[in-house]
Amino acid sequence: MNTVAYDILDEIIERKLKSRHRIFADKEKLHPDYIPDYLPHREEQIKRVASILVSALEGVRPSNILIYGLTGTGKTAVTLYVLKRLGKKAIDFDARFKYAYVNTRKTDTTYRVLADIARSLGLRIPYTGLAIAEVYRRYVEALENWGGVHIVVLDEIDYYVRKHGDDLLYKLTRINEELEHSKVSLIGITNDINFVENLDPRVRSSLGEEEIVFPPYNAEQLYDILMERAKQAFNPNTISNEVIRYCAALAAREHGDARRALDLLRVAGEIAEREMAEKVTVKHVKKAAMEIEYGRIQQVVSTLPLHAKLVLKAIIVLVRKHGHATTGETYNYYREFARSIGLEPLTQRRVSELINELDMLGLVNAVVVNRGRYGKTKMIRVGDLIDVIDDALERFMGE
Ligand SMILES: Nc1ncnc2c1ncn2[C@@H]1O[C@H](COP(=O)(O)OP(=O)(O)O)[C@@H](O)[C@H]1O
Ligand SMILES: [Mg+2]
Repeated sequence: MNTVAYDILDEIIERKLKSRHRIFADKEKLHPDYIPDYLPHREEQIKRVASILVSALEGVRPSNILIYGLTGTGKTAVTLYVLKRLGKKAIDFDARFKYAYVNTRKTDTTYRVLADIARSLGLRIPYTGLAIAEVYRRYVEALENWGGVHIVVLDEIDYYVRKHGDDLLYKLTRINEELEHSKVSLIGITNDINFVENLDPRVRSSLGEEEIVFPPYNAEQLYDILMERAKQAFNPNTISNEVIRYCAALAAREHGDARRALDLLRVAGEIAEREMAEKVTVKHVKKAAMEIEYGRIQQVVSTLPLHAKLVLKAIIVLVRKHGHATTGETYNYYREFARSIGLEPLTQRRVSELINELDMLGLVNAVVVNRGRYGKTKMIRVGDLIDVIDDALERFMGE
């Protein structure tokens, strides 16, 4: 009796596990942090970065590099790819070469940034408790005791500078003046071209001794990139060229973001697996696009300030009624909503700004129309995802 029950259970579990592994051979290969051995269509950028950094293997300080380009253009992947390869070569050459990689969007205090940099030399820095100047002093001391070339990568550097200013950057660009036995080179990476243009000229000229721009990928290039990753991530015959082409085309519509293309492919595979399908189809990719968009909307709506949520709610009510909303109508509804929950309404001018912000976030679409002697107003519409946005609002209204 017992054995029979056990066998049945075994079978159920086994079937479940098998079905789970049918689509993916190695899903990790689609993970955004995975650095593949081959990065198609980035040969030129790899060459540039490598030819600048290679002098480090001979103990000569490489130029600092400022790297910029839109999200998902391979900046982080290329930089880490080159550094990892150089790190291996350094062992063969017996060269004193190390690097620190810090993403300042994730590691967002000066203390933690410096601590991570120092730790990459093997220093043990506590998670809190030291003065920043002390962490810096220990870093300089460790550099001097070591006597090598240290490459410091500050990724998504615009986040740090926007929050804390550019003092640290300035200090790091001058650090070599304090060093006798070691050398430090900086690599700053950003998705934000405005950041580069607004950087203090002194910092830009030293950080940007070399500047490398990463152009967006087109649909064909994304196809090659996805193909390369898909070969490793999926089991044979579970994915077709058509599906990959479709993911590439969708992502190319949004400025050619490789991360988005990979996400689509991964989520499509997950959906196919959930549905116990034999293969990933274009239908799965369409569902994946919806799921990703849905997630994005939840995320964006959840972080809106309360007044912006009320403005968005007013727009949705009006759009459901008349197909569109104007600034004036939106304001009236918004004011009522605000008062009904005991909030002092913002001014019309401020609400108009909030409408622009909602537009920039892609939640609404506002165009200015001229109504002759009635002056100008905004014609505000909400796309196909109005129900999704409204659901998210209901969920997050109280937060
Ligand atoms: N040429 C490429 N070949 C393979 N994968 C790539 C390529 N370019 C980018 N990727 C992948 O796309 C994702 C986004 O790239 P990433 O380097 O993080 O972009 P960025 O730093 O410019 O925002 C990562 O998972 C990365 O591995
Ligand atoms: Mg990046």
